[in-house]
Amino acid sequence: MRITKYKDNVQQSVEYLKKWHGSAPEIAIVLGSGLSDAIPKIQEMKSVRFEEIPGFKTSTVQGHSGDLRIGSVTAYLTSGKEKTREIAFLRGRNHAYEGNDPGEVVHNLRSLITWGVKGIILTNAAGCLNTEWELGKMMILTDHINATGLSPLNGDYGLGFGAQFVDMSEGYDKKWQSQIKEIAHLSNHTIYDGVYYGVLGAHYETPAEIRMFKTLGASAVGMSTVLETIAARQLGAKVAALSCLTNYGAGLKQAQLSHTEVMDMGKRFASDMANIVLKAAVSLEV
Ligand code: HPA
Repeated sequence: MRITKYKDNVQQSVEYLKKWHGSAPEIAIVLGSGLSDAIPKIQEMKSVRFEEIPGFKTSTVQGHSGDLRIGSVTAYLTSGKEKTREIAFLRGRNHAYEGNDPGEVVHNLRSLITWGVKGIILTNAAGCLNTEWELGKMMILTDHINATGLSPLNGDYGLGFGAQFVDMSEGYDKKWQSQIKEIAHLSNHTIYDGVYYGVLGAHYETPAEIRMFKTLGASAVGMSTVLETIAARQLGAKVAALSCLTNYGAGLKQAQLSHTEVMDMGKRFASDMANIVLKAAVSLEV
């Protein structure tokens, strides 16, 4: 099989990661808008900036800082027992709307999985399509609709990473979904579940588009996650994804949408989400 530049770049990154940290943590968390700073002790963790890792893609979006951190996290499990596990954090991600091609969007995640990470928890900020739901709460993804028109498996982007025709019948691990819901309930946090509608962006939607997404069965809309899930499934990693519902979709309840508002809401509710995500990362079986 012809090795593409995408595969080459991943191999370069993995070489570096092995030298930097030896073996890979079992679980990695991708931290979306505003969430990066809500993890306790993250400032003290071992860290490397994305630009220092050969082949790694850097993020250009405001509010996405761009480094990889690794640290041991201790949490109380639902059984009441304490457990410590080493976790990798990707602080900042690359979006297709920044001009990245799909292979670039998923590069950092692919490198971690190729290094040895077995399970991925993706987090994001998303627009809420259900007007009965409360903003600032979380939605766990049961599934997604990829409306970006892109795939990290097309052409050269995906060559050499696994099957070209990847089964997406269970993109988001069902057992992980129920475990995360249980963690949230036991911590007294509201958690909704639903389908995430993945768009390219970077513009927000029109009210007519939002009505269409709702009709198609989606409960949240956002500009990330779907390509990462596809790439992770191609490499055989388990995936869970959580959205922080930062605003109602255009035309539903709010007069206007702004990135600043989305970021502010994300930050306000980041610690609730961080709490659940960390507990999940420590306890989920890979
Ligand atoms: N639309 C798309 N992406 C988003 C939104 C939205 O309303 N909110 C946060 N990310």
